[in-house]
Amino acid sequence: MNCVIIVGSQWGDEGKGKIVDLLTEYADGVIRYQGGNNAGHTVMFEDKTFVLHLIPSGILREKLSILGNGVVIDPAALLEEIKQLQEMNISVRDNLRISNNAHLVMPYHLLFDQLRESRKGKQKIGTTGRGIGPTYEDKVARSGIRLGDLRNSVHLKDRLSKIIEEKNSQLRHYFGAEQRCLNSGHILDELQNHFQELEPYLCDSAQLVNDQLDAGKNLIFEGAQGTFLDVDHGTYPYVTSSNTLAGGVCTGAGIGPTKVSHVLGITKAYTTRVGSGPFPTELDDETGEFLRSEGGEFGATTGRPRRCGWFDAVLVRQAVRLNGISSLALTKLDVLDKFEEIRIAVAYKLADGTTTKNFPTQQLDQVTPIYETMPGWNCSSQGIQQSDALPKELIAYIERLEDLISAPVSIISTGPRREETILLPSAPLMNL
Ligand code: GDP
Ligand code: IMO
Ligand code: MG
Repeated sequence: MNCVIIVGSQWGDEGKGKIVDLLTEYADGVIRYQGGNNAGHTVMFEDKTFVLHLIPSGILREKLSILGNGVVIDPAALLEEIKQLQEMNISVRDNLRISNNAHLVMPYHLLFDQLRESRKGKQKIGTTGRGIGPTYEDKVARSGIRLGDLRNSVHLKDRLSKIIEEKNSQLRHYFGAEQRCLNSGHILDELQNHFQELEPYLCDSAQLVNDQLDAGKNLIFEGAQGTFLDVDHGTYPYVTSSNTLAGGVCTGAGIGPTKVSHVLGITKAYTTRVGSGPFPTELDDETGEFLRSEGGEFGATTGRPRRCGWFDAVLVRQAVRLNGISSLALTKLDVLDKFEEIRIAVAYKLADGTTTKNFPTQQLDQVTPIYETMPGWNCSSQGIQQSDALPKELIAYIERLEDLISAPVSIISTGPRREETILLPSAPLMNL
């Protein structure tokens, strides 16, 4: 049995989808354990590009794909994703399983996400507008609705009408949006229609995952977002509303920490961020613009341009510690092909003039990165599949990063496609 957790080690969009799809060849199943359709995981193979928002990327290889209890599910978005996969002849019915306990993203969550953001004005978080924050709020406030709750329509009707009464009161009195008030009967009808379609997929996912582990199966846990979007350890309040760290697997899928065999941190060879919040190595100039265009850095979910900057070793070293990362998959090295020189942030200067190599959990907006400069390779690395074919400056860059962040690189990614990858002997290939 092998149990590999895949986490983003920066602010998301590190290339998790590509690596999960790649490693799924060696796995029996893939499980999502947090987040919702705020995620956008891109997988490219043959001449096709798929962006998965909710369903684990493992579905493309028709392996067991589980949405765990920690995921929040917008039923309309999920049904649309199922439909798109089926149109591509991917067998979803046989492979997808969904937790009874996963919470539903309701129409009022979407509405509140958007209304709150517009009220915040300049202080907005820059959410994906998918209702993720309000759904997790209701989950913690014990007023959420879980997929399995849709089985009991009498009880649901009663609960929903009380919830809608409260939401409408907030719409009326706090947001001044009387015209946006909701009708619980309409919402109930729509939920029941969605439930009919989703019921065949529902299961006790924690039991299923543990049965798989007991049977010696190899499983991948597919993280969404990234370390610094974690609600506890990220750049709060500019974070998402779930625990994106490797630790989130235990609660979001229902397994114990002793089951985990490898934590693979997916790390971009530079840094990007979508939405608001501090970003020490951000390049607000033509170099940042160049990274964006070379790297195609536009959000897979919202299409927003991603903010771009140099690699931040202080940040990723913190991610290594917070997640207990065993090894890294370093992606998008090919995007740096045309640089004469490449910079790495190795420490921060703090507001009081002192320097630190430790990640400060407060006032990240007031640090100035201290850079080290390395020679670029200035030639194409795109699609290289053998490590001995890599330019020596690229190897030196990887070795320097390993040294700075105290973790080894086990996978090198030189392009978006499955085959544009170098799997080093230490890659977690499920012992096959
Ligand atoms: P995720 O959210 O972590 O799955 O990442 P996204 O799919 O949002 O963004 C990563 C983008 O980079 C996608 O467009 C991938 O196809 C692409 N990508 C992944 N690895 C590489 C790589 O090594 N090189 C290049 N050029 N693109 C890559
Ligand atoms: P993947 O899985 C990058 C960001 C949003 C915003 C913040 C809160 O593709 O890496 P939310 O809608 O979650 O309340 O937004 O989190 N965000 C992501 N950024 N990649 C993602 O997912 C993200 N999911 C959320 O841009 O800043
Ligand atoms: Mg993404």
